[in-house]
Amino acid sequence: MSLPAPSGSARPHPSRLRSTATRLASVVLLAAGAGLVTVSTAAPATAASMSDVVPAPASVRPDSGTTYTLGPDARVLTEPGSAPAAGVGAYLAGILRRSTGYALPVAPAPSGTPASGVSLLLTGADPSVGDQGYQLDVTASAVVIRARTGAGLFNGVQTLRQLLPPRIESATVGPGPWTVPGGRIVDHPRFGYRGAMLDVARHFHPAGTVKRYIDRIALYKINYLHLHLSDDQGWRIALDARPRLAAYGGSTQVGGGSGGYYTKAEYQDLVAYAAQRYVTIVPEIDMPGHTNAALASYAELNCDGVAPPLYTGTDVGFSSLCTSKESTYTFVKDVLTELAAITPGPYLHIGGDEAHATSPAQYAAFVNRVQPMVAGAGKTVMGWHQIGAAAVDHSPGRVAQYWGTTTSDSQVSTAVSRGAKVVLSPANRAYLDMKYTSSTTLGQDWAGYVEVRTAYDWNPGSYLRGVPSSAVLGVEAPLWTETIVTEDDIEYMAFPRLPAIAELGWSPWSTHGWDAFRRRLAAQGPRWDVMGIGFYRSPQVPWA
Ligand code: ACM
Repeated sequence: MSLPAPSGSARPHPSRLRSTATRLASVVLLAAGAGLVTVSTAAPATAASMSDVVPAPASVRPDSGTTYTLGPDARVLTEPGSAPAAGVGAYLAGILRRSTGYALPVAPAPSGTPASGVSLLLTGADPSVGDQGYQLDVTASAVVIRARTGAGLFNGVQTLRQLLPPRIESATVGPGPWTVPGGRIVDHPRFGYRGAMLDVARHFHPAGTVKRYIDRIALYKINYLHLHLSDDQGWRIALDARPRLAAYGGSTQVGGGSGGYYTKAEYQDLVAYAAQRYVTIVPEIDMPGHTNAALASYAELNCDGVAPPLYTGTDVGFSSLCTSKESTYTFVKDVLTELAAITPGPYLHIGGDEAHATSPAQYAAFVNRVQPMVAGAGKTVMGWHQIGAAAVDHSPGRVAQYWGTTTSDSQVSTAVSRGAKVVLSPANRAYLDMKYTSSTTLGQDWAGYVEVRTAYDWNPGSYLRGVPSSAVLGVEAPLWTETIVTEDDIEYMAFPRLPAIAELGWSPWSTHGWDAFRRRLAAQGPRWDVMGIGFYRSPQVPWA
């Protein structure tokens, strides 16, 4: 497997250019005031610390007397005969080459003691790393990452990036030194599912934006990207069985405008791009509500046989597939079967939220017909937690995604008592579209304001009554896009809250602590500046 270089940022953004210029100017002024003649770049080549990694690793043992320096002759050496290790090696070299300008050849590791450079090996890791963790050793002569899988090596590489100076993330060559602090990290995730969701239905976000978001979430060891592919305002995936869904149902978005959709080839390319970054795509077709785009595209899906007009507002709960018509089920089966065939991941998300135009009995009848279709397509059901309603059957392995604002919910505890797993996305904690404060211009506030500490300071393992840690598959940070139009909007809402949710999913609870977290978060700021991420400079975080 070979990995293409990370997708570059496509557009300069005026506010970013302005902030970089301001920073440059102040550096020059400071230098002049000190009587120095210095040419400065925006981010200093400050060394990173082993205690600054986000998400916090399970175990960190710094060796403060030791530093490794990546030099021009360094190589990336990978487990002999392993395509995944070679793939992760090519990915790492691609990142390091951009800022160091070094050749960084990737080659199979010689047997015996790891040589100088960066080695990615599939032998010798501490058994505690499991199938997603890694062990990272930094000595004066070498960096060695050991894991049991490509995913583990990939996660170790994300940690290594954070141990290098922030300028390592630059898209252009700059001066070193490229130092890595010495010591050992042994690390593994608390939960197997660490997700982000992007609503590409309310406002369509093109594949390039999604790829860059995948690069962003992978930095923080998030391993699932849930794509909300359909809603009242748009249908975003072309399917051969029902071409009008995308061609007509995808032709607009919130506020009007031309919308858009992914061709099957684009979707498959996204899936592959994500897989190369050990991110699994979870596609969602939201049903039976949130379906105006489908109802507008095919009249037969409406109980009265009349297609409504396309919708570009932001109301919810007014639409429903006709649950009493057989043609609805033919439609759903066609859609799920075709989507499953281009989705290698285990889950199909069937939505199920806010079906206010459907009676509880109709809702249960609908979901009870649809869940076996997901299983029939070889996939596991995921749905918003309303699928946990007592009248809805359990289906093996199904996952209820909690999006409520309370810490007790009977639909979730009922689902769990029947064997369901839970992904936690409490809206007043994990929704990235909530405003940070009353003065945030983007976003919504129906679940409250979500400052960084609110996003961080809760325990997914004990959050919901009747949902023990053993029933928690993980966490997910959804970003709904009623008000989110551009890639800059996405980044502003995601950073720094996305890393907070990522840490809840990855780090052992024993590492949890707001004061340490906000200091580690502050150390990420210079990295985001170098990457051009226009993040929210929360006053709760002691940014440098
Ligand atoms: C949701 O926010 N309606 C899942």
